[in-house]
Amino acid sequence: MNEPQKKPRLKWLAVFWADLKASTDPALLGVARFLGLLYGPIDRTVSIDQAARKALGRRLPAFVGWRHALGGITYMLFIVLVVTGVLLSFYYRPSVQEAYPSIQYVVSEVPLGWLVRDLHVWSANLIVIAIMAHMARVFFAGTYKPPRETNWLAGLLLLLVVLAFGGTGYLLPWDQWAYWTTTEVLDTISRAPVLGVFASVLQGDAVVSGATLSRFFAWHVIILPWIAFALLLLHFSLLRKHGIAPPPGETREAGDGVPFFPNHLLKAFIVGVLVLAVAISLAALFPRPVGDPADPFTLPSALVSSWIVVDVSLALIRYLGVWGFWLFTLLGMSMALLPLFDRRPERRLRRRPIVLALGTLFFFGFLVAWLAGRQLRSLPPSTQLRPGEMIERFVPEQESAEAPQNEPDAEAEGGEEEQP
Ligand code: HEM
Repeated sequence: MNEPQKKPRLKWLAVFWADLKASTDPALLGVARFLGLLYGPIDRTVSIDQAARKALGRRLPAFVGWRHALGGITYMLFIVLVVTGVLLSFYYRPSVQEAYPSIQYVVSEVPLGWLVRDLHVWSANLIVIAIMAHMARVFFAGTYKPPRETNWLAGLLLLLVVLAFGGTGYLLPWDQWAYWTTTEVLDTISRAPVLGVFASVLQGDAVVSGATLSRFFAWHVIILPWIAFALLLLHFSLLRKHGIAPPPGETREAGDGVPFFPNHLLKAFIVGVLVLAVAISLAALFPRPVGDPADPFTLPSALVSSWIVVDVSLALIRYLGVWGFWLFTLLGMSMALLPLFDRRPERRLRRRPIVLALGTLFFFGFLVAWLAGRQLRSLPPSTQLRPGEMIERFVPEQESAEAPQNEPDAEAEGGEEEQP
């Protein structure tokens, strides 16, 4: 009965497909290459479907192994962050009055909102582990050396962008933990020579306030995504240009490994499912609690950190002092810039003792600081800004001089209303 109806529809589909193939340039597949989804050059002399088939069948170098999955895992977590971030932005409101209730609404009222939110929080942690592991792999294998040094620098900027994403996102729940951690870290940065100016521009006010929240939100959802997108395109196009570096002494030709499809994509799919399963399990088992609403006039009795980098930063600041924090940052920076100076082709680790020492100190130090930071969760913040000083900085000098000494609450309310 249905047969005569089906035929014209199928015919239309066949004609549509033929038209599409004939009118579409195979070079369009280059977009997929840019996004890291296809491997090898695109053959532009054939039709788009044949070019796609050829690209999918291309073989990877035989030396590509599981250690090369770290970059892909980082990429996948980045995509999870983008998707969950977009979903959260449907409900989140970036104002002092609405930020906190909007997060509470997401976790308690929106169907599966708690999962989306905690997946976002956990992916922000897992991406730091993945990116550090990826960076350590590249560093110790010496694959940052020419001709891949530009890609190392592009990767480094990506690391900064990932850190900036986490740092700006941390304040958005606008609870006591977010508020006081941001205050402490910004306070530390503002005491550094050049970065100090940057920190106060970022803060946008004498203390962390509604102005800071708006700025952090703009960076988090508008500025940083564009920078990250541009850097990812650069990272992948350089990767396609130079290929994945062979291990030292490798003699096999590139392209004699497994085909991209189905073998490599199947492996990538398995890794992707596993990582997603870990992230979802962590999100379901250890949801990030929401603290009390942010109050610039009351220090919280305890700080609960929900981001690895906060643990590391606070451990450095508390145990080694502000100078310890900066020394560790300098160590990271010198390690990051090393590829610009270490240009010898030698890649065997035992012949690169300085690199080995520097890398071990940094990655091991990061791990130790992270573990130490986890122990700090029940301590009160060591910020130098005490509530009294906060009020002085929050309310213009003359007003606070005129105000009766014993009525800080009245001032506090006035100050709060002035926030945008
Ligand atoms: C969002 C962050 C990042 C993503 C999505 C990403 C993705 C990738 C991918 C998929 C690869 C190819 C497979 C592999 O070698 O693992 C790769 C290679 C590479 N990445 Fe990254 N990466 C990121 C951050 C970084 C960072 C922080 C650095 C270093 C500072 C870096 C430096 C490199 C280098 C030099 C290569 C070439 C390695 C080789 O040829 O052996 N990347 N990246």
